[in-house]
Amino acid sequence: MRRLMYEARAQLASPVRNPRMATVIGRLLGLAFLLCFGTGLYSHFLQEPLSWMVFPTRPAGLYQLTQGTHIVAGIACFPLLLAKLYVVFPQLFVYPPVTSFAQFLERASIALFVGASLVEITIGLLNTYQWYPFPFPFRQVHFALSFVIIGSLLVHIGVKLPLISAHWRAERTAGPPEQLRAGPTQEGLPRTRGLTGRILSYIDATPTVPARTSRRGFLATVTLGVATVVGLTAGQTFTPLDALNAFGPRKKGVGQQGVPVNRSSAQAKVATAAMATDWVLTVASGDTERSFSRAELAALPQTDVDLPIACVEGWSQMASWRGVRLRDLIDEAGGSPDSDLRLISLEQRGGFRQTEMGREYVRDPLTLVALELNGETLDLEHGYPARMIAPGRPGVLQTKWLSRIEAIDA
Ligand code: HEM
Repeated sequence: MRRLMYEARAQLASPVRNPRMATVIGRLLGLAFLLCFGTGLYSHFLQEPLSWMVFPTRPAGLYQLTQGTHIVAGIACFPLLLAKLYVVFPQLFVYPPVTSFAQFLERASIALFVGASLVEITIGLLNTYQWYPFPFPFRQVHFALSFVIIGSLLVHIGVKLPLISAHWRAERTAGPPEQLRAGPTQEGLPRTRGLTGRILSYIDATPTVPARTSRRGFLATVTLGVATVVGLTAGQTFTPLDALNAFGPRKKGVGQQGVPVNRSSAQAKVATAAMATDWVLTVASGDTERSFSRAELAALPQTDVDLPIACVEGWSQMASWRGVRLRDLIDEAGGSPDSDLRLISLEQRGGFRQTEMGREYVRDPLTLVALELNGETLDLEHGYPARMIAPGRPGVLQTKWLSRIEAIDA
């Protein structure tokens, strides 16, 4: 068995399978994971804030930036993770696989890290296409796995720290052939003859220059892979790359009134209630309650703002909105802009039928109860008769088909 594993590693030996390359790819992968973790947590707490949390409302496109970065960094993880697995693959054939309890823990943490990462990025990508072929709730599992990943990553980095520090900077001169190629050492093995001996003598006979060229080729391939997957999707968030957006699930400018739609009126089953002539928006604060018809809302002072719709799935689109400032409406109804609000949609079902809005958004002059989009009456698919639009909030919290607004702590 020992010899078999040794021969497998000899077969797999390559100029790119070495600690330096594992460190180089690992640094990029670690950065991408940390970006995903940070921006993912931000998205999570926007939707499920802790009681003491207050969020910035500027820059108005902040969520567009953070969630766009989440998806771009997440998509970059695919080629980076594959490259990392390619580099360290021969480690699967180390024999004996475990020599101590500490090493068992280390290898178990790597197995956990790899498994969790593959699931995390796969379900994340499927979610951007709104495809859920798995039998568990996406958000909860994606959230929990992110802690498993970051925890096992920290253990892995802690254990490998000496090796990582030794290979953090580029070597000034090429190291010995064994180090460059990460082939198995012959330590502890009987002198090798036959197939293995021939492989090892071939490896030792390989000159250093082609090896360096090949490492550059590998890095160029990984760079090209990252540039391709990112370049062909990032345009759904970042306008300058819009023309290249081939695989992003949403395209800028495509949808009613030039804005993509995620949840349609048919999915939300709101068409009848939204088109009813007796629709009113009720604003409640403590014992005070006032209802506004659409005509009454349109008769109040109107404000124009440019704000993006920025979806949790990464796409975003700048748009022009016109409507009543939320704080003016609350004032008109006898409430205070210093209360957190509950926003209730005409939808009867769905996780975002009721959402909450912190007072920082209520006070903000850019936050509107929008009646128009891009110069036209709001389309039913965008939330007719009235919807919320506020700076720096995910699209799922920009409640469409508004029915009721109530102060939470009044
Ligand atoms: C190691 C990589 C990743 C980490 C650590 C990570 C972490 C997170 C976290 C913590 C959240 C918040 C979940 C919540 O709201 O409870 C999140 C949300 C999200 N992630 Fe990731 N993520 C990773 C990779 C990806 C990838 C590769 C994609 C897609 C290409 C992706 C797509 C999403 C989406 C669409 C959401 C929003 C979910 C929602 O609110 O409905 N993630 N991520």
